[in-house]
Amino acid sequence: MIELRDIRRDFQVGDQTVHALADVNLAINAGEYLAVTGPSGSGKSTLLNVLGLLDHPTGGHYLFEGRDTTTLDDQAQATLRNRRIGFVFQFFHLVPRLTAQQNVELPMSLAGIEPAERARRASHALAQLGMSDRAHHRPDQLSGGQRQRVAIARAVVMQPALLLADEPTGNLDQASGADVIRILEELNQQGITLVVVTHDESLASRAQRRVRIVDGRIEKDTGRREDA
Ligand SMILES: Nc1ncnc2c1ncn2[C@@H]1O[C@H](COP(=O)(O)OP(=O)(O)O)[C@@H](O)[C@H]1O
Ligand SMILES: [Mg+2]
Repeated sequence: MIELRDIRRDFQVGDQTVHALADVNLAINAGEYLAVTGPSGSGKSTLLNVLGLLDHPTGGHYLFEGRDTTTLDDQAQATLRNRRIGFVFQFFHLVPRLTAQQNVELPMSLAGIEPAERARRASHALAQLGMSDRAHHRPDQLSGGQRQRVAIARAVVMQPALLLADEPTGNLDQASGADVIRILEELNQQGITLVVVTHDESLASRAQRRVRIVDGRIEKDTGRREDA
């Protein structure tokens, strides 16, 4: 489903070049559950942003469902991201002035889905996450765990093939964090390909496959599923 070939991401900071990713080769099969670990600053978020088409690699090729995304223009990448990829962030990234329902409707607005259908699907997504009674609350009227549920509803409402989560429990108490992980794992069991960045080893050990990054390079890749 995904293939990264010799991916490199350099950041220019003043007269210094930071090699956030170097020589990254990684293939991910549909349906896999993969945890990415590594020290702070090792390139985990950069890798996830590249996978999510939120950032462009400096070099190399990224194949998504057989298409080389590095040859697509911004619009085509945005469309692909909107249709096929969901993203969950540590700090939720909900739009503050919009209700939970409106936040979940956003990706469908981008996709040009009609208002009635949008409302129907957003309500359904929120109901599946146990958030129906909070649909008309704004993010500042929700707890951290509830915000992350809304963010997950937004991430999956377009039924993406790939779900990326960058430290999704990093800003939550233990109980809400466990809850969020359980939801993500259920989505994976329903077929979505799941990549979770975490520095929590016990959380990483729940994933079938674990990739460790150090200094922008893949240092270890264990538990890879060879079939599928
Ligand atoms: N936008 C940016 N500009 C400059 N340097 C960056 C930028 N984003 C990340 N970096 C650098 O790239 C490296 C990897 O960062 P990141 O992927 O955020 O690490 P992690 O998520 O593993 O903590 C770090 O050295 C960081 O300082
Ligand atoms: Mg990070």
